[in-house]
Amino acid sequence: MLKQVIKTVSSSQAPKKYFFKQFCTSTTEKKGRVGLVTLNRPKSLNALSDGLISEINSAVKLFQEDKDVGSIIITGSEKAFAAGADIKEMEKVTLPDAYNNDLLAQWHDLTKIRKPIIAAVNGYALGGGCELAMMCDIIIAGEKAVFGQPEIKLGTIPGCGGTQRLIRAIGKSKAMELVLTGNNLTAVEAEKAGLVSKVVPVEELLTEATKMAEKIASYSQLTVAMAKEAVNASYELTLQEGIRFERRMFHSTFGTHDQKEGMNAFVEKRTPTWHNK
Ligand code: CAA
Repeated sequence: MLKQVIKTVSSSQAPKKYFFKQFCTSTTEKKGRVGLVTLNRPKSLNALSDGLISEINSAVKLFQEDKDVGSIIITGSEKAFAAGADIKEMEKVTLPDAYNNDLLAQWHDLTKIRKPIIAAVNGYALGGGCELAMMCDIIIAGEKAVFGQPEIKLGTIPGCGGTQRLIRAIGKSKAMELVLTGNNLTAVEAEKAGLVSKVVPVEELLTEATKMAEKIASYSQLTVAMAKEAVNASYELTLQEGIRFERRMFHSTFGTHDQKEGMNAFVEKRTPTWHNK
């Protein structure tokens, strides 16, 4: 099932090693300090089957454990990031099946990854596809991207955070409109509403996402992880608790080598060298 290729690429400089893994419905590769996961189920517009979700989880866990990887990108094809959970797989699921197997619970594994994850979205990000993008830390969209929670049209509701994360991203009225009518947002509308951090030409999506991912990966991984944890804490905490948590995390950075290095480099007008400790 799994084809793994470890290639040695010759370049003008020293030979460089990189890995590329072809799974059944996705590929995983490492480009410098960036881990890239590409969903690849073209016939079903990257519908998120159990298998595909398992592959995404395996890939991001691999990158979480890889000290050379500083950030991760999840992307799809030009036509679809992902058109939702796999309706054909879910069609016959009964309530006891769904409840006993805790249907969709494994999707949330993505939110346990401590390295930053960018969703690079071209085409459809619908239902579970929109929810997958929202579980990432930053969404960058190609101009033709389409976001929506159309589950209402299927006689169900979003099941993987759509009713909870969308309202935090775009507010109650717009979230309600999307969830209750099944209407979609264009990329530009999604950016205006705050769901998406930036919109770029379709063919430049991966380049732009990679630039952003490389920039994040160029900083101290320790500090980046603390910053991500502090921002995400706002989902769970009251303002007072969140501010206090942030301040304690801020204090913690003063116990790191990289805070000393960062501030000293500023004072000495030089580029810092991060040690991730
Ligand atoms: N699950 C399974 N298969 C899907 C799919 C999905 N979510 N979305 C598309 N496909 C399949 C289609 O069945 C079709 O397969 P066949 O060729 O075998 O018929 C193929 O992908 C191409 O799709 P279309 O012919 O429909 O392509 P289109 O360009 O005409 O339309 C679309 C594109 C508007 C995205 C349309 O496919 C669509 O509406 N898809 C479903 C979107 C949706 O409802 N998503 C929510 C799913 S439920 C969910 O995600 C729950 C949750 O909270 C996790």
